[in-house]
Amino acid sequence: MRVGVLTGGGDCPGLNAVIRAVVRKAERHYGDAVLGFKDGWRGLLDNDFELLTVEQMRGTLPRGGTILGTTRTNPFKVDNGVELVKETLAKNDVTGLISIGGEGTLSCTNEMFKRGLPVVGVPKTIDNDIGVTERTFGFDTAVTIATEAIERLHTTAESHDRVMVVEVMGRHVGHIATWAGIAGGATRILVPEKPFDIEEVCRSLARRHEAGRYASIVVVAEGAKPLPATMAMPDETLDEFGHVRLGGVAARVADEIEKRTGYETRVTVLGHVQRGGTPTPFDRVLSTRYGVGAIDAVHAEKWGQMVALKCDQIVTVPLSEAVADLKFVSDELWDTASQFFA
Ligand code: F6P
Repeated sequence: MRVGVLTGGGDCPGLNAVIRAVVRKAERHYGDAVLGFKDGWRGLLDNDFELLTVEQMRGTLPRGGTILGTTRTNPFKVDNGVELVKETLAKNDVTGLISIGGEGTLSCTNEMFKRGLPVVGVPKTIDNDIGVTERTFGFDTAVTIATEAIERLHTTAESHDRVMVVEVMGRHVGHIATWAGIAGGATRILVPEKPFDIEEVCRSLARRHEAGRYASIVVVAEGAKPLPATMAMPDETLDEFGHVRLGGVAARVADEIEKRTGYETRVTVLGHVQRGGTPTPFDRVLSTRYGVGAIDAVHAEKWGQMVALKCDQIVTVPLSEAVADLKFVSDELWDTASQFFA
């Protein structure tokens, strides 16, 4: 069999580990040829790929990023995009396509399935916001990096008795902020799911600082929003998938805290550091399991399905279910986090 694989959307630690596992089982167990399409859907539109072999994949398990390259190219925004993708698959005799991506790429993959393409999805995103699966790969690595950063900020914050505002990724959901905030002992956590009242945040920080020399760490997810009409926010621009390009909320929050409390406040934006570098052991194992699960799903002709983690088992679920609803921070986790707020 000839199997295609692509990586789309933002990169994520563990992408190469998925590709490596697909290639390994495809070549050694099934005797397949694997075609690695370049730069997400762009490679399918332009018939741009390379043949991937076990030999070639050596050394890629711990490597961050993706050896295939990635873009947010949306084939539905290109003239004849679906036909071009179909032509590429037919021309290269590809029986099944493994699409590794987040919400945007997987929605596209589901639309391709509805138009008759033989596709299987793999859930990738440091945000951990894909529905149905308990975990996306990359999340554990991002939380590990963010937690270490918060820990480092504690000592400098305490030395100066400052408020430190840390911006982490998380456009629609606050999983990274909540996990890293709990693990790093944050004073407050602001997430998209819970619009915040800046006045109340400032009052609680003031109470804490008045009680003694207690520096504060405020972790802000990049998609966190204030209650309506309580605070000006940065302007928004859109990418090809119609996603808002985020960033800047921490700076706004820090300005308001300094203005309203008088406490010296500094900002740290972790940004793409959370997505770079080597995956954690957890993400290496999860990615490897997803890769093996995906090639097995191709051979079982489970088109329109996505591999997922459920009760620590790799299963397949319909892509349509996976992209229907985002996975938000649960009430239980949020309640636990808020027990430690100032
Ligand atoms: O969706 C994953 C993600 O890392 C988000 O957390 C973040 O908002 C976005 O990608 C950033 O995308 P880009 O790399 O295009 O700036």
